[in-house]
Amino acid sequence: MCEVQQSCFPPRVLFTGSFSDLFPLPTGPILLCIDRGVSSNEIVRLKSALQANRLYEYLMPGGERSKTRASKQKLEDWALAMKIGSNVSVFAVGGGATLDLVAFFAATYARGVPLFLVPSTLLAMADASFGGKCGVNAKRVKNIVGTVYHPHAIFIDSQLLLSLPKYHIQAGLVEIAKHSLLDSKEAFDTVMSCWNACLQKDLPCLEKLIAYSLNVKEKFCSRSKEYRHFLNLGHTMAHGLEGVEGAYLTHGVAVAIGMYLEAAIGFRRGIVRRDVVEKTKEIAALAAPRSPFKGKWSFEHLKRTLELDKKNTAGVPRVVWIEAIGKPYVCHGCTAIPLEWAEVEYAHDLMKRMWP
Ligand SMILES: NC(=O)c1ccc[n+]([C@@H]2O[C@H](COP(=O)([O-])OP(=O)(O)OC[C@H]3O[C@@H](n4cnc5c(N)ncnc54)[C@H](O)[C@@H]3O)[C@@H](O)[C@H]2O)c1
Repeated sequence: MCEVQQSCFPPRVLFTGSFSDLFPLPTGPILLCIDRGVSSNEIVRLKSALQANRLYEYLMPGGERSKTRASKQKLEDWALAMKIGSNVSVFAVGGGATLDLVAFFAATYARGVPLFLVPSTLLAMADASFGGKCGVNAKRVKNIVGTVYHPHAIFIDSQLLLSLPKYHIQAGLVEIAKHSLLDSKEAFDTVMSCWNACLQKDLPCLEKLIAYSLNVKEKFCSRSKEYRHFLNLGHTMAHGLEGVEGAYLTHGVAVAIGMYLEAAIGFRRGIVRRDVVEKTKEIAALAAPRSPFKGKWSFEHLKRTLELDKKNTAGVPRVVWIEAIGKPYVCHGCTAIPLEWAEVEYAHDLMKRMWP
């Protein structure tokens, strides 16, 4: 039996190879929360590997639209109706949105129950499953209600990616590229050279990048709270765009555009080097070759959403920058730097020119 702590950092990350070598599992009841996007064959495979005496199964819609307080409450009400108690261990299987929601549920149900994550999208494997951040969106503000709660272990089985549409692979590659931009030029070049092979679902190549990406994330998470902010590269503009666009815009595409726009602002300030702007523009063009926007919204809408961003101080949005690839920018000990609204408007205009 494994000693199940409620929350531990760093969690064990296991590349499971068909779930056949799951490490000793909790002996008590298991609540398996599964994203409906995961194929039924994979669910059967996972269930047989778990071999739980008492297994509760909760199928839930995946994606951003379901990452809400209402969905969390629905899960809580269901768990109560099933008389699930504090001896349960929760397994979350799904994309980043499902993991964020179920982890938040596990953090608060019965004052916290042990959590295990089985990410099923590239973005969730390479980023969202690690670091402990969890929560839901409210009033179109991303991740505004949530906490930090670490899983006991993360099981990565790249075979789950076989059913994932290419544009979601693309979204995961953006977050991996983000980690490499924070890390080094060599790593960035490697990620970009693997891009097409990954899109073709070359699983060994994908696994290599997932392991690399989690490594970088761990480095940034364990250094300091201030340093951890760098993982938000591109995320201020991204969250603003996700807020105005709604669930149409995938998180990865939003981050790709956000990295480019924030780099362009940093370049105007004389902080970010030109090649960073060019590289982030290249990633944005790969992630969004055509306009990804469907909504009709103006700069004023974007401003109103950004005013509510959870990283703000006094309603002013803040961003992190890299001066050069592998060189995060720190100013008098601070990593998150406030923006002027005129700069946000400049970025908005730039975006409208690139994706009219
Ligand atoms: N907690 C963190 O540190 C962190 C980090 C990065 C991103 N995130 C969050 O992650 C979310 C984005 O995650 P995502 O990119 O995984 O998207 P997602 O969770 O929205 O999933 C995208 C779609 O893929 C489907 N899906 C899931 N697994 C599948 C599979 N194996 N085959 C086919 N379809 C499948 C889902 O049902 C959904 O429709 C955002 O909410 C973002 O805020 C969290």
